[in-house]
Amino acid sequence: MLDAYRFLVTAAPDALEAALEELRFKPHHTVWEEVAPGVALLEIEQPLAEWCACIDERPPVFVRHISPVQRELVLEGSDADLERLTRVAQSLAAELTPGRPFAIQTRLLDNDVTHLSRFVVNEQLAAAVQAVTNAPLNVREPSEVVSVALTPARAYVGVSPVSFNRSSWAGGAQRFAREQGQISRAEFKLLEAQAVFDFDWPTFGQALDLGAAPGGWTRILRRVGLPVVAVDPAKLDPRIARDRGVRHLQIVAQRFLPTSERFSVIVNDIRMDARDSAWLMVEAAPALEPDGLAVVTLKLPQAHMARVAYHALSILRGAYHVVGARQLFHNRSEVTAVLTPRAQIEAEVRDRAVQQRRRYRPAPTSE
Ligand SMILES: C[S@@+](CC[C@H](N)C(=O)[O-])C[C@H]1O[C@@H](n2cnc3c(N)ncnc32)[C@H](O)[C@@H]1O
Repeated sequence: MLDAYRFLVTAAPDALEAALEELRFKPHHTVWEEVAPGVALLEIEQPLAEWCACIDERPPVFVRHISPVQRELVLEGSDADLERLTRVAQSLAAELTPGRPFAIQTRLLDNDVTHLSRFVVNEQLAAAVQAVTNAPLNVREPSEVVSVALTPARAYVGVSPVSFNRSSWAGGAQRFAREQGQISRAEFKLLEAQAVFDFDWPTFGQALDLGAAPGGWTRILRRVGLPVVAVDPAKLDPRIARDRGVRHLQIVAQRFLPTSERFSVIVNDIRMDARDSAWLMVEAAPALEPDGLAVVTLKLPQAHMARVAYHALSILRGAYHVVGARQLFHNRSEVTAVLTPRAQIEAEVRDRAVQQRRRYRPAPTSE
């Protein structure tokens, strides 16, 4: 279905070059131009399947979203643009798999796109595509997406399976509604990590929140039902501080670790250099239960951002299995990593080996 060789790649504006570097697989090359802050139009020179296999093998950290560009339209700035876009979407509808849920995801790459509204484009193109394909529209959980990106001068349109895009949200911009009782904006980072890496919180044992104040992440862990040890020299929000399920230790994490306590969840949002934070997590590793889960945000400097991130991740790999690491939409100068104990993956490999051995063991003979 995907026959494109040009793509829009989206990253945080200051991480775009790092993101593109992650997609440049030797010996093939890529050519790109920045079409908006944090968005590059990329041309690949290697077979698409090979390129995708390379991405799966070495998942990029700084790429938030990839969408194919199968059609590019020069916009006139008039009402006729919507009609022309609709015709383009209809001509691409044949690329959708019949019967599979689809969505139109339109984004404005520039605030100066004033003559087209995201909602109107989504609605009109969805109706036009449905008229041709009869495919079910599912905005929340599409399996295929028609991506439309608009600048004042151009429209970039392409169709892909949502798994290819690396996010089911337009441009990777996953938004959450502000909740009543929300303590901090940092909560969005943890909610997004759970959605992107698709994990369930353990529901047994207790959680450790390093760098907990004012208490947003602690609030989320309490909602899961876990008692929380919150370590931070700063004060917690009174709504969290008076919760009897929260034990606040008003000290730096370096004074708490190592610890003889055990935790099913360890989270770390401490404002400190990514590599120091990774070493703290290494120190915390023995405290994580064998089927536990850890989440850490690694704070990055402006200079050598990618190099520092990869170094911190390599430190983490010494003590954990890194399930995934990404610069999420709600991450500013940081990346989020989700970790499980190394013992967990070693046990999985061992179980697989035992099963394989059983499968190939010759049947016992009667002699
Ligand atoms: C981004 S805030 C954490 C926000 C929190 N996750 C939330 O959702 O409310 C970073 C926190 O790290 C704390 N911090 C900085 N150095 C620390 C250290 N060495 N040990 C523990 N906490 C530290 C700061 O006091 C600050 O409260």
